Amino acid sequence: MLQSSRLLLCALQPGDLNATYLGWLNDPAVNRYLETRFLPQTLEALQAYWQAHRDDPASPWFAICLSGDGRHIGNIKLGPIHWLHRRADLSLFIGDRSCWGQGYASEAIALVRDWAFRELDLQKLNAGIYAGNIGSRRAFEKCGFELEGTLRQEVVSAGERLDVWRLGLPRSHWSPAP
Ligand SMILES: CC(C)(COP(=O)(O)OP(=O)(O)OC[C@H]1O[C@@H](n2cnc3c(N)ncnc32)[C@H](O)[C@@H]1OP(=O)(O)O)[C@@H](O)C(=O)NCCC(=O)NCCS
Repeated sequence: MLQSSRLLLCALQPGDLNATYLGWLNDPAVNRYLETRFLPQTLEALQAYWQAHRDDPASPWFAICLSGDGRHIGNIKLGPIHWLHRRADLSLFIGDRSCWGQGYASEAIALVRDWAFRELDLQKLNAGIYAGNIGSRRAFEKCGFELEGTLRQEVVSAGERLDVWRLGLPRSHWSPAP
């Protein structure tokens, strides 16, 4: 479990795989920039995904919960970890839209970033962000990530091809949260 002043990141429990979580994945405002929108999202599919990935050491993923009342508001995943190059992608969503714009994404990214560098001894973190997802880019930039390149017309979104921004943070440029 990882903890900051306002958040607890913990392993997803079977009880987290519920209608609320499913609603996030099927909410067009939330899934607009997520690959999960291409898959049929049902409780059975969620459970099957959880079973397949719950203990995968190469892709640790966490429920993002408010430390005050324990409410589950989204997920964050590190991976796949490339152990030989000691690098990994970091991705997340805040599914509860009432929680957007309050700094939770930045706080969750900083927690996993510090854990990945300190405890897993990773040397590089990356993030791929659909061009136009300003909120996600800002959240990663606030945590020290910088734009390293743009993959042109990399993905399809709402019927048009979009670029993907690749952001990265080498461990040597990391400033841990105080
Ligand atoms: C993108 C997302 C993760 C941002 O989460 P969040 O908790 O609202 O982000 P934060 O509050 O930490 O905001 C980080 C910065 O981005 C800004 N920001 C957030 N959403 C924004 C938006 N839609 N447009 C412009 N700026 C935005 C915030 O103001 C803040 O900047 P500031 O501190 O300079 O004011 C969240 O909206 C989300 O999960 N969206 C759907 C799924 C998704 O896009 N996931 C990311 C895939 S790469």
